[in-house]
Amino acid sequence: VEVKIEVVIPEKERSKEEMSPNGKASPLIYKVNGTARHYHLEEHPIASNPYHNPKDVVEASVCHVKDLENGQMREVDLGCGKALLIKESGEFHAVGHKCPHYGAPLVKGVLSKGRVRCPWHGACFNISTGDIEDFPGLDSLPRFQVKIEKEKVYIRASKQALQTQRRTKMMAKCISLSNYNLSSTNVLIIGAGAAGLVCAETLRQEGFSDRIVMCTMDRHLPYDRPKLSKSMDSHPEQIALRPKEFFCTYDIEVLTEMQVAAVDIKNKIAVFKDGFKMEYNKLLIATGNTPKALSCKGKEVENVFNIRTPEDANRVVKLATSKNVVIVGASFLGMEVAAYLTERAHSVSVVELEEVPFKKFFGERVGRAVMKMFEGNRVKFYMQTEVSELREQEGKLKEVVLKSGKVLRADVCVVGVGKGP
Ligand SMILES: Cc1cc2nc3c(=O)[nH]c(=O)nc-3n(C[C@H](O)[C@H](O)[C@H](O)COP(=O)(O)OP(=O)(O)OC[C@H]3O[C@@H](n4cnc5c(N)ncnc54)[C@H](O)[C@@H]3O)c2cc1C
Ligand code: FES
Repeated sequence: VEVKIEVVIPEKERSKEEMSPNGKASPLIYKVNGTARHYHLEEHPIASNPYHNPKDVVEASVCHVKDLENGQMREVDLGCGKALLIKESGEFHAVGHKCPHYGAPLVKGVLSKGRVRCPWHGACFNISTGDIEDFPGLDSLPRFQVKIEKEKVYIRASKQALQTQRRTKMMAKCISLSNYNLSSTNVLIIGAGAAGLVCAETLRQEGFSDRIVMCTMDRHLPYDRPKLSKSMDSHPEQIALRPKEFFCTYDIEVLTEMQVAAVDIKNKIAVFKDGFKMEYNKLLIATGNTPKALSCKGKEVENVFNIRTPEDANRVVKLATSKNVVIVGASFLGMEVAAYLTERAHSVSVVELEEVPFKKFFGERVGRAVMKMFEGNRVKFYMQTEVSELREQEGKLKEVVLKSGKVLRADVCVVGVGKGP
């Protein structure tokens, strides 16, 4: 029998709930360089205090204590959304049931030593707090209260949290912008990929309330780069790691299309390509890596791409539609691009040094099976060979010549042969 109860939290209890996680009421005192400063921890609207509005709370009996063995997880329905109920070492925990990264069902993940690992890309969450402890993904899981009464397990949850299935950790804001001119900052992060963004967010989560500036060569705010080879026609906003308002809310400044050309470590100054200089107190270099280019004859012809930005991916889709594509490299990037383009392009050819795709990662048998599957989808493989020349017509790619002597017609070529520093 499932009992659903709407709960009204008494005034006294509510004020307890409104306190910060460490039990102190906001604002807190935080010390930067030994100086006591006041700061406010802010929560993003999607993660507002779960019990702030009593009408937002639902409580339900979800099972009998004996229904779950230790080490088991179960999705339970509270009427207005589901939770993941977990039993470990005799204790029950309840958190969001969907991974905040791309929504995988966590019940299919792995539970071990107080953590649940997502079955899709491996994000890891603490089952007691719901906090994310390993990436990918930025947000944590909402945590719900569990109580046992008369052998029954009850969960009390915010309806809003049941709907959103995610929680953005509490973060500080900058309180000292007026101490800085445009060309100085406390923290400078070179690189606005996932690593740079996580660093900025972690600083704010830890209560850092001074200026943070990130800079990127990209035209866009941080986005999910791995999506570029899986969903190649995505717009940058569709794959943004955080919406624009997030950066305003938490005072994380992002300078786009700004390449750092040199860093004067002694004087703590970053020099940008356009001559602009920025002084910093702390510097993080999170510049990722650089894709390897081909070194063969004709490597500079037009329409040969390493996929690095949304512009690259979008352009490849446009050029490949109903045309001939040659992909160099049969590892993750190459095979993902082949999978994406196979229904759009007139022909897709893959050139690879090894005998089968993914050989280094999964071995010969798996590689052979994957190859067969792709061949069934019109992808042609040219294995144990490499590109010797890219031929052009009026500056644009026309043919890809292989060391084996084979000449492939090509309107666009995607290179996925690894990366360097
Ligand atoms: C198409 C594609 C698909 C991928 N798929 C997957 C996948 O499925 N799974 C997976 O785990 N990984 C995947 N990866 C790898 C993954 O994207 C990287 O591991 C990840 O992006 C690294 O994050 P990062 O923040 O360290 O660096 P990056 O995301 O590379 O970001 C580097 C940042 O530094 C900036 N930068 C560099 N030099 C300068 C400079 N001099 N001045 C200013 N800014 C600078 C860049 O503009 C950028 O903002 C993929 C990569 C690509 C390109
Ligand atoms: S969906 Fe969970 S890590 Fe990606």
